[in-house]
Amino acid sequence: MRRTLSALALFTLFAAPTLAAKPEDAKMPVETPFGKTADGTPVSAFTLTNKNGVKVKIITYGGIVAEWHAPDKDGKFADIVCGFDDLKGYLDGHPYFGAIIGRVGNRVGNAKFTLDGKEYTLAANNGKHSLHGGKEGFDKKVWKGEAVSTPAGPAVKLTYTSKDGEEGYPGTLVSTVTYTLTDDNALRIDYHATTDKATPVNLTNHSYFNLSGHNAGDILNHVLELKADKYTPGDDTLIPTGKVEPVKGTPYDFTKPTRIGDRIKEIKADPVGYDLNFVHGAKREAAPQSVAKVTDPKSGRTLEVLTTEPGIQFYTGNFLDGKVKGKGGAVYNQYGAFCLEAQFFPDSPNKSEFPSIILKPGEQYTQTTIYKLGVTK
Ligand code: GLA
Repeated sequence: MRRTLSALALFTLFAAPTLAAKPEDAKMPVETPFGKTADGTPVSAFTLTNKNGVKVKIITYGGIVAEWHAPDKDGKFADIVCGFDDLKGYLDGHPYFGAIIGRVGNRVGNAKFTLDGKEYTLAANNGKHSLHGGKEGFDKKVWKGEAVSTPAGPAVKLTYTSKDGEEGYPGTLVSTVTYTLTDDNALRIDYHATTDKATPVNLTNHSYFNLSGHNAGDILNHVLELKADKYTPGDDTLIPTGKVEPVKGTPYDFTKPTRIGDRIKEIKADPVGYDLNFVHGAKREAAPQSVAKVTDPKSGRTLEVLTTEPGIQFYTGNFLDGKVKGKGGAVYNQYGAFCLEAQFFPDSPNKSEFPSIILKPGEQYTQTTIYKLGVTK
């Protein structure tokens, strides 16, 4: 007995601290329970921390980026994404805060499309259109979560299998989304999908950022640079006309860094604000390209977006109306945050002039989008 005890004491004294100090331990995300959905499915939260103390919390419900704590120019941390403290906030309904969007992000006009001569009818959830995957898109599914330690940093790999016919889409689609928090304060999102029947696929992430902090008022003083010299104009229900037009001479020209609030009132939309697909490429790139940079003069935080995708939806939270109560009782009002959703163009399944989003059996869907934080004095 005595011998056992002393062996244990020796282990505690020497081995335990050594184990705790192993570098790879710091790279493993921490998984904690995050409640249960109405049908009793458990949801987990994965917290990823890097060497700078940056912390990102991802939940398996919707693959949502629920928290993102990052330093400002003086090293002071704030949570820069909108969200809720508990699962109930998300289950009660919200405008896609932080979520993975699929199977088809953005709008499909009249909730219909034709593929290989067959017409498919989708769930209409945006007037007569289908938005962000339909009534129960990927943002409302519980993904399988797996903590992964990678040389680049802590990661969580999420998997969701969407059944043939789900929300009206053909084919069983197996999607994985891996979030990796790197030591250069970037959140890298690697998407992958395969199908057993031809189907449209357009995945994205719908994080709402306010670089001053998620509860810090509006983002109109943030400065945006978008390396997109074209956009896809749309009708008043945000369905593209099919044309790709130059931004030059319009309030959509952010090719030079411009304050978001400068020309926002010139936009003819109801509600007023940016909610538009910008075009910076013609196809998917093999490696992520830098397409956007946002600077917040107040906190000094910057956000760069790099993506393989040819389009990006810039949305200024026009529909936020202070009704949902966020983290710590935060009130999210109109223009309280912005989204930069890397994507293929809206209504692509009905626009043969746009790059195709059809994934066929045997093909691999691969997208990488990186949200990289920095500071400027
Ligand atoms: C996207 C759409 C917007 C709006 C938001 C969610 O950004 O383009 O019109 O639906 O999602 O409120």
